[in-house]
Formats: sequence, C-alpha cells, structure tokens
Amino acid sequence: MSQELFPFWPTRPDCDYEEEKAHAEHLDRVLGLRAAEGVEDFVSTEVQVATSGAPTQQWRGLALQSLLTPYTELRRILADLDARLSPGHLVEMGAGYSRFAHVLHACSPKWTYCGYEVVPERHAEAVRWRAARGLPSSRYDLQCVDLRSHPLPAADVYFMYDYSDRTSIETTISQMQDRARRGHRVIVVGRGGLTRNIIEKSHPWLAAVVEPLHRARYSIYQS
Ligand SMILES: C[S@@+](CC[C@H](N)C(=O)[O-])C[C@H]1O[C@@H](n2cnc3c(N)ncnc32)[C@H](O)[C@@H]1O
Repeated sequence: MSQELFPFWPTRPDCDYEEEKAHAEHLDRVLGLRAAEGVEDFVSTEVQVATSGAPTQQWRGLALQSLLTPYTELRRILADLDARLSPGHLVEMGAGYSRFAHVLHACSPKWTYCGYEVVPERHAEAVRWRAARGLPSSRYDLQCVDLRSHPLPAADVYFMYDYSDRTSIETTISQMQDRARRGHRVIVVGRGGLTRNIIEKSHPWLAAVVEPLHRARYSIYQS
C-alpha cells in the first residue's frame, strides 16, 4: 500500500520533475489534502510582516506544486537517510502541509517528526489532514511558529527547503553550527538553490568530515 502511494523512484539525474509534481498533485487528492482546492486561495499574497518588523519569504501566491517537495522525492530522501543512519527525530524547517510526516508514517514509521510552519492556514490544514489520515500527534508534531524568533529545535536530521529569506536561513545554519560545537552531530537535508548555496559557500564544516551526498534537487550534509 505504502509502496503504491509513495513509489520509490530510482534517483537519476534526468528525473522528470513535471511528472513527479503531477504524481504529487494526484496523491494530494487521493490522500485528502485540501491545499489545492481551497487553503492556498485563502493564504493572502500580501507580504506578511512578522513581529520583528522584517518581511519574511512565505511563498505566498505561488503554484502549490512548486512550493512543496513531491512525495516521490521525499521517499528518495528517506531512503538516503535510512541507508545512512538509524531512524531518529526529523525536524522540517518551514513544513508547508507536512507531507513528509505522511511519507515517514507509511514508509519508515520508526522516525518521529516535528514540522514548523509560520503560515497559520497551512498549519491548520496540516493538523486537520494529520488527524484525517490517522497519524498520531505524539509521533508527528506540528508547530505554528516563526522560526526566526524560535530557538533551534533539537533534531537528528533537519530538512530545509529554502524555508525563508537568505538572512533567516543563514541564521538557522549558524545555530546548527553552534549545536555541532556543543558536540551534537548535525545532519541537514538541504533542498533548493538558496539553502545549498549558503551551505556550500559559507559552511565548510558541513562537508569537512563526511562527504555530502548530492542529488538533483537536494543534498545531505553532515557535521
Ligand atoms: C518552499 S516551502 C517548503 C515546504 C515544505 N518544507 C516542502 O518541502 O514541501 C517553505 C515553507 O516555509 C514556510 N516559512 C517561511 N518562513 C518561515 C518562518 N520564518 N518560520 C517557519 N516557517 C516559515 C513557508 O510558509 C513555506 O510553507
């Protein structure tokens, strides 16, 4: 069943991204995510000004399937993680609708998860969807917070797809460096050009000990 819903597509450089997004759109409907038919329409396209006064990149008014990581890719990320380490706690920085929780639950349920999302409409739908699909909140936590004013949560793995603007991402990665300096192993799945660019240009500590794993649209870095 999980294999049918979340097929494991082999990673290859010429992966057809349009096909993966079409599959994700279909699966959103099958799984009952209401993002496409409603929620995103209510996510206003106005730039939100957070409590700090600075605007934040919240991906408002953009195509849903570009905003989110396709299920097939999440499945491949999970396979890459499972090949490297034992299941632990995965934190998603800027979680959208927390698709990853559903993939973990179906395909590798020993992982626990927490998704942090700043847009209240997305968080509310993620909470409704989690309950509708029967995912236990004790294992799949969903928090509505602005990560810019939140301490870095503890995690075995951080998943980050260009969650905000450059300054926010830089701050988050510096917090991860502090965590590594305190003796914790830090593993980051970086997706998107901005996140990977920041890590590669300014954070050699995430590539000094363990060779990063580079895939077409994400990389896995480790301290
Ligand atoms: C590109 S989307 C990625 C969604 C999801 N991680 C995925 O890969 O499918 C980035 C998400 O980060 C959220 N976000 C932006 N700024 C944030 C902040 N300061 N704190 C928490 N979430 C934030 C956005 O609202 C958006 O849902």
